[in-house]
Amino acid sequence: MTERLEQTDPEIYRLIRQEHNRQNDTLELIASENHVSAPVLEALGSALTDKYAEGYPGKRWYFGCDHVDQIERIAIERAQKLFKADHVNVQPHSGTSANMGVYLAALKPGDKIMGMDLAHGGHLSHGMKINISGKFYKVVSYGVEKDTEMMDMDKIRRQVLEERPQMLIVGASAYPRKIDFATFGDIAKEAGCLLLSDIAHIAGLVATGLHPDPVPHSDFVTTTIHKTLRGPRGGMILCRSEWAKKIDQAIFPGIQGGPLMHVIAAKAVAFGEALQPAFKEYNRMVVENAQTLADKLTELGWRLTSGGTDNHLMLVDLREKMPDVTGDEAATWLRDADIICNKNAIPFDPRPPIQTSGLRLGSPAITSRGMGKEQIIAIAEWIDRILTSKGDLSVIEQARRFVTELCEEFPIPTRVE
Ligand SMILES: Cc1ncc(COP(=O)(O)O)c(C=O)c1O
Repeated sequence: MTERLEQTDPEIYRLIRQEHNRQNDTLELIASENHVSAPVLEALGSALTDKYAEGYPGKRWYFGCDHVDQIERIAIERAQKLFKADHVNVQPHSGTSANMGVYLAALKPGDKIMGMDLAHGGHLSHGMKINISGKFYKVVSYGVEKDTEMMDMDKIRRQVLEERPQMLIVGASAYPRKIDFATFGDIAKEAGCLLLSDIAHIAGLVATGLHPDPVPHSDFVTTTIHKTLRGPRGGMILCRSEWAKKIDQAIFPGIQGGPLMHVIAAKAVAFGEALQPAFKEYNRMVVENAQTLADKLTELGWRLTSGGTDNHLMLVDLREKMPDVTGDEAATWLRDADIICNKNAIPFDPRPPIQTSGLRLGSPAITSRGMGKEQIIAIAEWIDRILTSKGDLSVIEQARRFVTELCEEFPIPTRVE
């Protein structure tokens, strides 16, 4: 008889159950998180985890790869269809690994890369000092403007032409506006550099045509699969045909060994879901819900950086309404009320990253639970009450009751047993 985790390892079983319940019983507003479907989870928990498949379909180092070859080919074909890319590598273990793969394929140590400043919403894999990108490459950055908190494309053009990096990187972890990939493409051409567009956060919005498409304008596009794309944790690289061989070699054997075939199967399942019309409707709701949340918070007197959002996330600048409150305190009070989000630096933040003056809020996970306008407005009102009471215990108690009822009404659809 099959052994069950509950019997063989009750300690881990219990913790998995507890995490399962935590997800069900709290409101997930972390912008980079989502809830995958039951079929994605099924693929992730499959026997494919046992298989070594170093190499690529049809060119493996091990025997027994017939089925995983077919699975990886399907994942690639679906991703190509979804993003209209020449070449796709679905093996990166994460978004950071995807970026490392691009750097290894296209740059020499000491080359100059230019991405968005981490403090303005960029990602650590775009040149943070202690990340491999910051250690192996010379890093310069561009940012957003102080008055608009948005990118000024003319200024970025001037900076890129002055700096002449080997690679320009566009993409962010905390930028609430549409990104003008076409102009980034023009700038890269003018400066004679390569363009990497990292769409980790907005991949679902790009795949469904709700946001501008970077593929025609970029040499490389990288993404995570687990944010708005609603797939398993992992990464992917899209590139033009001429880079295909170098990219594949950079991932294996460059920076990785055997691919995670159970994750690749789950990526294929998620891409299949993303090709359905319902996925566009889901992403449309993600944006609509983010805008509802942004509008209601603004109405309640909270300042959002850049004045709002075009995508799935927003940054609340706490200083306008509560100058003494840090992002750290605010996120902790919300956490106490079972509303989970993260503190986040706002552009030109006077506070250190450990405190911050901002909160980052996102709509992908609550939208996956089926929440809409009415629920989002109620969530905004509770966020306002919790913060303005400075985490008053009786307010937190009431808020927790609201969250419990809302979570019961909108269970994570795929986790109902
Ligand atoms: C823009 C961007 N790129 C890359 C990544 C890295 O993804 P991972 O955490 O899978 O390495 C993230 C993750 O948040 C991201 O926001």
